[in-house]
Amino acid sequence: MAIVTLTGWPQPITVEAGETILDAALAAGVPFPHGCRSGNCGACKSRVLSGEVDLAPVSEYALSDAERQAGLVLACRSLAWEDCSLAWLEADAVALHRLCRLETRVQSVTPLTHDTVEVALAIDAGGPFTFTAGQYASLSFPGLPPRDYSMANAPDEAVLRFHIRRVPGGAVSVYATQALTPGTMVTVEGPFGTAHLRSDHTGPVLAIAGGSGLAPIQSIVTSLLASDPQRAVFLYHGVRTPADAYGSAWLADLTRSDHVTTHVEVAADGLMLHQRIAADFAAGLPAGAKAYVAGPPAMVDAVSAVLHSLGLAQADIHADAFYTSADRPAVAAS
Ligand code: FES
Repeated sequence: MAIVTLTGWPQPITVEAGETILDAALAAGVPFPHGCRSGNCGACKSRVLSGEVDLAPVSEYALSDAERQAGLVLACRSLAWEDCSLAWLEADAVALHRLCRLETRVQSVTPLTHDTVEVALAIDAGGPFTFTAGQYASLSFPGLPPRDYSMANAPDEAVLRFHIRRVPGGAVSVYATQALTPGTMVTVEGPFGTAHLRSDHTGPVLAIAGGSGLAPIQSIVTSLLASDPQRAVFLYHGVRTPADAYGSAWLADLTRSDHVTTHVEVAADGLMLHQRIAADFAAGLPAGAKAYVAGPPAMVDAVSAVLHSLGLAQADIHADAFYTSADRPAVAAS
């Protein structure tokens, strides 16, 4: 057992042997920024201020060797063998909203495609549930383990909307897409995630979604254009087949603005989106651009690599890869 002090959090937390610092922090109610919880996204990147931390293997994309040598770690892959202190890097994401847990009621379940539904949750007496566009929440349906889904609505709406795609063998997604009915109570906890809209950015925006990654992208673009209708937005939605495409009415509505372009890219394996972006911006990205990317990990990695090769700094790529529980290896096992 170790005592860990986190900059910006008033009480030290206790981290048990074999427990990651991130897990201990979340269990203690700390709104620690995080995403994949598997060492792949970099959202939980932190600086070790004192003490020793044991870091399990992580992706080079999430934490480079240079960052590691500079004293940075990923809290989701870090074990504390002695008392230590850390500071997380993405401070702005958590300064906005406190973690909140509330009971909601299913207001509607609306098919979006053959395997994806929109679940709308009414926030009754327990609200409000505040978040920044692009963040996600953990949903607990009756008798099932919690699962993470991104809010598709803008933060100022009275309901929370989620796009849930049926994953073969996935108990929660199968239940949500096939058996969920209005009136069911759902526990919502959050908000989480650091791939959220940066309100201090005023340049062009690349909004890039794969599959049901359209949910956070929809939230970001809706919020952005509500506050700045003149903003240049380049929106891409990659899907596997034409039957997987959705949101056509919303996309068509966006293109009424001369400042917004939208593309729906159909690819057999969902990986073609990065090639389309590389071709579209072969002459260079618009000056001052930021990118928001959400979807399956392979698509997010490929798109992020292309954006990086086109000259976009890592700090201007805000990516949310949709990892499943199967993507989260145990730290102790590694
Ligand atoms: S790398 Fe730690 S949450 Fe993704």
